[in-house]
Amino acid sequence: MQADFSSDRRSFLRLTAAGFLAGLSFPLLRTLPGFCSPSPPMGADADRLTFADIQSAQKRLAGNIVHTPCLPNRPLSRIVGAEVYLKFENRQIIGAFKERGALNKLLCLSQSERDRGVIAASSGNHAQAVAYHASRLKVRAVIVMPKGTPMIKVCRTQAYGAEVVLEGDTFDEASRFTRERASREGLTFIHPFDDPQVITGQGTVAVEMLNDVSDLDVLLVQIGGGGLIAGCAIAAKALKPGIRIVGVESKTYSAMYQRLKGLPVQVGGDTIAEGLAVRDIGEIPLGIVRKLVDEVLLVEETTIERAIVTLIEEGKTVAEGAGATGLAALLEHPRRFTGKRVGLVITGGNIDSRLLSMVLMRGLIRDGKLVRLRILVPDRPGGLTKVTALINSNGGHIIEAQYDRIFVPSVKTPAVELLVETRDWDHVQALVKTLRDQGVQVMLLTQPAL
Ligand SMILES: Cc1ncc(COP(=O)(O)O)c(C=O)c1O
Repeated sequence: MQADFSSDRRSFLRLTAAGFLAGLSFPLLRTLPGFCSPSPPMGADADRLTFADIQSAQKRLAGNIVHTPCLPNRPLSRIVGAEVYLKFENRQIIGAFKERGALNKLLCLSQSERDRGVIAASSGNHAQAVAYHASRLKVRAVIVMPKGTPMIKVCRTQAYGAEVVLEGDTFDEASRFTRERASREGLTFIHPFDDPQVITGQGTVAVEMLNDVSDLDVLLVQIGGGGLIAGCAIAAKALKPGIRIVGVESKTYSAMYQRLKGLPVQVGGDTIAEGLAVRDIGEIPLGIVRKLVDEVLLVEETTIERAIVTLIEEGKTVAEGAGATGLAALLEHPRRFTGKRVGLVITGGNIDSRLLSMVLMRGLIRDGKLVRLRILVPDRPGGLTKVTALINSNGGHIIEAQYDRIFVPSVKTPAVELLVETRDWDHVQALVKTLRDQGVQVMLLTQPAL
């Protein structure tokens, strides 16, 4: 599924270019090391943000965040038939690109804003980014999370130095509370994506990518609220006007796609890409995406799972669901990118270990590398030995075995469930056929479509 948005781009590019030239003549205002004051004038609408703003953000961030590598990856390129470059934003200190926008915003606060402190509503990477950089800059940070937020996220954000408040049953309730508290206590609200300084901070990802690999044909960027793609689109189109910017969303949370198509927004359900689970995308990003983004692709949840596994196996890197969603688009729509030089952002690597272990196991099952067989075994000495010998001599490796004498048609014919390591689905089919040819009653309990 995809949408094309090519209208009305030229006037925006003219504006962006004009902003770029104007920006070159502005000296960077600094009062304290690392701070610019007052906040640079920026409007809340898409047309006011320029490449010059992103260049200013880049100067502000220099030395305070990691300039992550952007490297070619041969195995992935072979798999998808394109020249794939990975930008490793999972190597930022907090493990995600979100530091860029959060820090840019913090560095643009006035002295009195800094003295009063900041507040954000997030249980994800934005929370950790604000907490980490606010504490580095000795700015008070309050992070509001919904009540059910896993303890690990609460503790990690506290460990970065923020004051965590659990409020509301849903994210919307937590956000409402955040705004109320911001105005009550005079705290500056740091929005995760609908904020000019956050967007321009995120845009520095694309600046680094194109400075490091100037001949990219396509930039694939995952979309949550749209801050990352908006900043990247402004920067990339200014640096290389012919570049194609492609957004990616999970089919379960395709709010940007729906807004661009003029459809009512309907999102929801479980997603492994929690960072992209946004219903109310940013209005500033939406305006920028309308003008600069060429298309938005949608991907299945299972493809995101596959992308996480592929990044570990072929990219030797850990990505969370949202971080792997760019690759999911390449895996699901490879023909759109054939022969092109494609830049992907591994936006984050913060995935729960238990979830990751299950994703990896499901990957093995999907690829026919791990199968569960249920076998009816004659209840006499050596009955099982014959079956296991057959499996072993045909290349299967039994990892686990469990007897069942209750849920079987006859108490004299127990069943045994075997977890068997195999090479691929062809191997599985051949193994099952050999067992049946030898008179073994076997049932395959796992299927390829996971
Ligand atoms: C890892 C990761 N990737 C991508 C995104 C999407 O970014 P944005 O909301 O700016 O579109 C997020 C947002 O939280 C994220 O955490």
